[in-house]
Order: sequence, then C-alpha cells, then structure tokens
Amino acid sequence: MKTQVAIIGAGPSGLLLGQLLHKRGIDNVVLERRGPDYVLGRIRAGVLEHGFVDLMREAGVTEHMDREGHVHEGFSIMFNGRRERIDLKGLTGGHTVMIYGQTEVTRDLMAARAASGAPSFYEVEDVALHDIDSGHPRVTFRKDGRDVMLECDYIAGCDGFHGPSRQAIPRGAIREYERVYPFGWLGLLSDTHPVEEELIYVSHPRGFALCSMRSPTRSRYYVQVPLSEKVADWSDERFWDELRARLPADVAAKLETGPSLEKSIAPLRSFVVEPMQHGRLFLVGDAAHIVPPTGAKGLNLAASDVYTLYNLICKAYLDDQPEMLSRYSEICLRRIWKAERFSWWMTSVLHRFDHDPFSERIQQAEAAYCVSTVAARTSIAENYVGLPYERIE
Ligand code: APR
Ligand code: PHB
Repeated sequence: MKTQVAIIGAGPSGLLLGQLLHKRGIDNVVLERRGPDYVLGRIRAGVLEHGFVDLMREAGVTEHMDREGHVHEGFSIMFNGRRERIDLKGLTGGHTVMIYGQTEVTRDLMAARAASGAPSFYEVEDVALHDIDSGHPRVTFRKDGRDVMLECDYIAGCDGFHGPSRQAIPRGAIREYERVYPFGWLGLLSDTHPVEEELIYVSHPRGFALCSMRSPTRSRYYVQVPLSEKVADWSDERFWDELRARLPADVAAKLETGPSLEKSIAPLRSFVVEPMQHGRLFLVGDAAHIVPPTGAKGLNLAASDVYTLYNLICKAYLDDQPEMLSRYSEICLRRIWKAERFSWWMTSVLHRFDHDPFSERIQQAEAAYCVSTVAARTSIAENYVGLPYERIE
C-alpha cells in the first residue's frame, strides 16, 4: 500500500490533520490501534481556543460545533473567599473560547473522514515505523491477522503520549523535559445543569476544584486528589460532598447533583520532547508534549501543531518547498513552551502543595497579584484564549 502521508493515531490530532490534507488533495492513511467507540469513550477537556475553531472551519467540520458549542466570554477564579472574573473578551480585544467537548470534536472529525472516503484502519496491531531517516519511510502493521506495509513520503506521529512514534526516534537524537505533580484530578461527568454559566477555578485549603461543563444540561467537575486515591473509593456522594466543601457557600447551595456518567482520576504532568521531528517523522500533539489540564491547553496545543505541519506539508507538495519542513519543530516549540509555562503557572497558583510557610505566602501573593491589575489579568486572558499561531510564509 502507498500514500503520501501516513498518520498514526485517530485522536483529534490525526483526524484533523488528515481532513485538512485531504481537502488540499494530499493523500493520507490513518492507522488507529483502538476501535472508534473506544476512542470516543475517552472523556477529555472541552475548551477550544479561537485558533482551534478557525482550523476546524478550514477543515469544513463546524456544522455541529456552530449549533451546539457555546461561546464563553469569561471565567472566574476563586481564592481566599474572593471571586474574580476574567473578562476574556474585554481584555483581549474580542477573543472568546468555545465550550465543545473533545469527544464531540473527535466524533465530527470521524464522520467527516468517513464521508470523504479517505482511508482509515481501526484496530490495527503492531504498528512499527521503519527507515524514518531515509527518503522512503514505511509503516508496518497487522490488520485482521494479515501483515500490511504502508509506503509513504512522510509520517505524522499523532499517537499520543504512549504511542510508538516518539519511541522510533534514536534516544541520543532527542531530549525530554518533564515535571510530574504530586496529585491528580478526580473528574465526574453528569447530566445536571452546570452550577453557573461560566467555568469556575477554585483554590481552596482542601485542594483545587473546577466547575466546568459540556452543555447547558451536562456538567464536568474536578477535585484535586492525592495520587494514592482510587476511583473505587469515591462514591458519587463522596465526590459531591467534597466538591461542595471547596465551593463558596452561595455556589455550593446552587450545586445540582446526580448520578455520574463517568468518573476517573488523571495524573498531572508537564512534558516536552525536543526536537519534535526526526528525518521524515513529525510528532504531533500528545506524542510530543503534555500539559497539566489547568489551563485547558492539551487539545489546543495539538491543534497548533496540526496547523503548522499541515501548512508545511502543503508547502512541500503544492509549492515545491519540501525544505521548509525542517522548520516544523522550532516553530511548534516556540508556542508550546509558552503554553507549558501558562499551564504550569495556573497549576502552581491554584493547587494545594505541601509547601513550607514561605512558599505558601508566595503562592498567596501570586494569586492576589494575578488578578489585581489590568496588566496581570490581561496576561491570564491572552494566554487562556490562546496565543497567536505563527504564520507560515
Ligand atoms: N498504533 C496506532 N494508534 C495508536 C497507537 C499505536 N501503537 N498508540 C496509540 N494510538 C492512538 C491512541 O489509541 C489514540 O486514539 O493514538 C491516538 C492518540 O490520540 P490522543 O491521545 O487523543 O492524542 P492527540 O490526538 O494528540 O490529542 C491531543 O489533547 O486534550 C488533550 O490529551 C488530550 O487527547 C488529547 C490531546
Ligand atoms: C473540562 O471541561 O474538562 C476542562 C475545562 C477546563 C480545564 C480543564 C478541563 O482547564
């Protein structure tokens, strides 16, 4: 089998890249280890930057999003009994974010791909990358018990943090940067009305909490928990009690509770690999970097990688400038490190750490300062709505 771009992974990165390339007449094949239902069963974040929405529009996949997504013009931060609203729209000259779940984004992209007739192989096994240093890379895999070889010009490694693409790069050719945080987020999804119309990030002596949503009738809540916690020890009642205890009384009083549709614990991690390319392999999204979820940047960073790779691949095929692909990693990493900084910063300001007394006071001062001037609030707002994508000239 032959194609121009082999895409490993049918998460949002792989599917969005595939759709954009297909629209420009560039052939691609998507390979995914899981079945579509498994991929859609993963509950992830749901805050989209305007750059992401624009890219989905370019891919022609916004019909549902335009109907069912909700534009948010601000969010709140609570700490020390104070409540501060960050006016995203006012502080950024009109930018907002879109509330629309990653599950829905993925479902829309899967449907668009199926409708386009571009080839995807789900439930493939033993995906392996070969000759990525040469002009003729290959991907081999097993499908329905048969060995298949896919020859291509380029490989997009969109296979998440645990996929084989990053592992295919020789150890000496890359460097990894990592921070692991000593806690996780316990998340609960329920068909209840969100406690408020906008998101609320809460810093509380019992730990961080987040009130989020997927729609006007579906809520998503999180509480910070030690990594030693087990989901099985958290009944819905225990979760709701803990969340209520971290919310101010007036908000807690409004909280609508109900049975959980999903409940899981996610560890928090910051991770970046440099460079994000080797030979004809390009790492995209979670395969190259992870952020803690506090700034809602994971999916959005994947989208800016896709934007960059898509435009550089177009340069290679449509403008006969394949040498521009050598700039992929450097362009992506400039934006990634700024989002890593913001996600790390949001995490460090809002969570409970086992701090010494000095560090505790500094954390309190940081929280008080970051909402105290227009300049400080603007810094939060411009990062939250998303820093600009670097144009490819
Ligand atoms: N072969 C084929 N596919 C694989 C393999 C493999 N060996 N290993 C992993 N995959 C698939 C996974 O099953 C998954 O569907 O790659 C896909 C990677 O998708 P994601 O983990 O969702 O990563 P990505 O598409 O980069 O999405 C960005 O943003 O909000 C964050 O972490 C969140 O998933 C989100 C990410
Ligand atoms: C979510 O809705 O799942 C969500 C929202 C904002 C975040 C993280 C997760 O910062």
